[in-house]
Amino acid sequence: MEKAHKILEIEDIHTYYGESHVIQGLSLFIHAQEAVSILGRNGVGKTTTLRSLMGLTPPRSGAITIDGQNTTRWPAHRIAKLGVAYVPAERHIFPGLTVEENLKMAARPGNGDNSWNLERVYAQFPVLADRTKQDGATLSGGEQQMLAIGRALISNPKLIILDEPSQGLAPLIVDHVTDIVKNFCVGSGMTLLVVEQNYRMALKVASRHYLMSTKGQIAGTATTQELVENQQIILDHLAV
Ligand SMILES: Nc1ncnc2c1ncn2[C@@H]1O[C@H](COP(=O)(O)OP(=O)(O)OP(=O)(O)O)[C@@H](O)[C@H]1O
Ligand SMILES: [Mg+2]
Repeated sequence: MEKAHKILEIEDIHTYYGESHVIQGLSLFIHAQEAVSILGRNGVGKTTTLRSLMGLTPPRSGAITIDGQNTTRWPAHRIAKLGVAYVPAERHIFPGLTVEENLKMAARPGNGDNSWNLERVYAQFPVLADRTKQDGATLSGGEQQMLAIGRALISNPKLIILDEPSQGLAPLIVDHVTDIVKNFCVGSGMTLLVVEQNYRMALKVASRHYLMSTKGQIAGTATTQELVENQQIILDHLAV
């Protein structure tokens, strides 16, 4: 069998906020169509890792390759244009724009039967279909997360990146968002990178996991099956 190609490869990056050396030598990769998570406690550098690869806080050294291109020094808009959709933990719904306007701003043509457009988003997210003319900023937390994910999908990305999609949501809503991520972001030709402190959600959506210990360092990597069979691995790395 042909070896799956790496859609993302991060090689030994170091990222700083001013003098603060937050990511100290991080390496990881994701194969095309893989669903991968980064698990780690508060403040270990998960969001900074995503900001590094999105060009928002570029690394000072090391290399990032996305779909065969060295994107290490690319500005954020160019990385987005390459087909990378980033859903930050704060969701960044544009206030003053309706649900529909939020979606339309992000829409980009896809190819094939699997591609996303406004009709498909409304068919799969009835909550949004009921609120097309409502200001996006007035939605509940769960609805905003669905809009943020819908907005990522409608850009028909190669790689979708979610930062703590379960953050601040009630358990039932987390289940709903988990189903959405599972059904639409995984196994439909898209590649998923999800960052979570909620390892239960991460185990449901991703098949391989990087355990981040501190300062962006990867303490281990494991498949979902390995983590399910040996929960101690999670406790060792994520216990407070
Ligand atoms: N803008 C900033 N300026 C300076 N330091 C920052 C900034 N943002 C984050 N940090 C620090 O960098 C480190 C990594 O933060 P980061 O947000 O990447 O962690 P995280 O794993 O996403 O944490 P959380 O679980 O809280 O989301 C932390 O020590 C944090 O305090
Ligand atoms: Mg974070």
